[in-house]
Amino acid sequence: MPVHLNTAGAGLMPAEVVDTMTAHLTEEAAEGAYETELRHTDTLEKGVYEALAQLLDAPVDDMAVFDSATRAWSSAVSALRLTGADRVWITPYEYAGGLILWTELRRRTGLRVEVVPLTSSGDLDLDWMRRNIREDVAVVSVPHVPSGCGIVNPVEEIGRILAPWPCLYLVDACQSVGQLDVSVRKIGCDLLTGAGRKFLCGPRGTGFAAIGPRLRAAAAPMFHDLHVADVTSANDYAVHTEGARRFEYAERSAAAVRGLDAALRHHLARPASPGTGPGTRDAVRSIVDELPDTRLVDPGTRHASIVTFVCERLPAARIRAELAARDVNVWVAQGNHTPLYLPGQGVDHGVRVSPHHYTSPQDIEVFARALREVIR
Ligand SMILES: Cc1ncc(COP(=O)(O)O)c(C=O)c1O
Repeated sequence: MPVHLNTAGAGLMPAEVVDTMTAHLTEEAAEGAYETELRHTDTLEKGVYEALAQLLDAPVDDMAVFDSATRAWSSAVSALRLTGADRVWITPYEYAGGLILWTELRRRTGLRVEVVPLTSSGDLDLDWMRRNIREDVAVVSVPHVPSGCGIVNPVEEIGRILAPWPCLYLVDACQSVGQLDVSVRKIGCDLLTGAGRKFLCGPRGTGFAAIGPRLRAAAAPMFHDLHVADVTSANDYAVHTEGARRFEYAERSAAAVRGLDAALRHHLARPASPGTGPGTRDAVRSIVDELPDTRLVDPGTRHASIVTFVCERLPAARIRAELAARDVNVWVAQGNHTPLYLPGQGVDHGVRVSPHHYTSPQDIEVFARALREVIR
């Protein structure tokens, strides 16, 4: 078994998740997929939403399940009724997928997209936010932890700054759910999205959102699927829920949703993540730091379990391949996935190392030995 240090790509699924999904597929093959779904309605229609609500500390009515974090994000954000009078604040850590959507919304509506500046340490400039927030800022979008480096943005403090203002507050928690405490209530955001497969260790093809009542009231989704809508005439239809599920699509992999449910329950039963603690992260960081010609890409004052670095002599893809040959999984962080930050730091590609609770001190020793062989 390789030492898996690519949780920011996809975490290792616990046995409960794999067993649940395997049993579900076996049941589908033997009994029929719709028939199997009927037998698990409790989990698929209720349990998974309750578990999500518990994890995210938000009302169950705000929960929606999707097939990726991007689908969760774009389903909610593309439904916003924005105009040319609106300003949208993003940060240099915004995910590239989000930026593509903001660009399209700007082209269609004429809204203004503004980038919150950083302080010299790489932290978001909260004083700038306090000084510049106005009524016409319609949306503020902040990633809790970005894709390409391990900074933890102070989403709760930002929530307190924004609370008196009318703007909608959106948080991309794709890289933080499962490794940090994420409470929608404490953050005070109107949208929070994530993926099942990363630090939550659920299956691929799952994503989720907490879509709060303010955002739901401000949104006009282009489409409602048949799990929430009935056609009432050739010219009309009725939507029979005000809840967040009206942003979902009806068809989905029931095996994947049950896998997500199993991952949520596994996580809720043991939320402490020793391998994700500062000890493991700092060990990775100092192993990298002592090597010649390497540079950590490590902005900000608070850090999560993602350590990114570049080596001046060796391309990141080569380091990844050499480590894989030594049974160590790391990944290549692409600069253009965090395009307003990483390329400006001279990072087209970096090596991204992301341990989790399953990372033992022995794993870290294996990683250290392998990396020292590759970068001498
Ligand atoms: C910070 C961040 N946001 C959003 C996403 C998109 O997630 P998905 O691939 O599930 O759509 C990623 C994926 O790596 C990410 O790192």
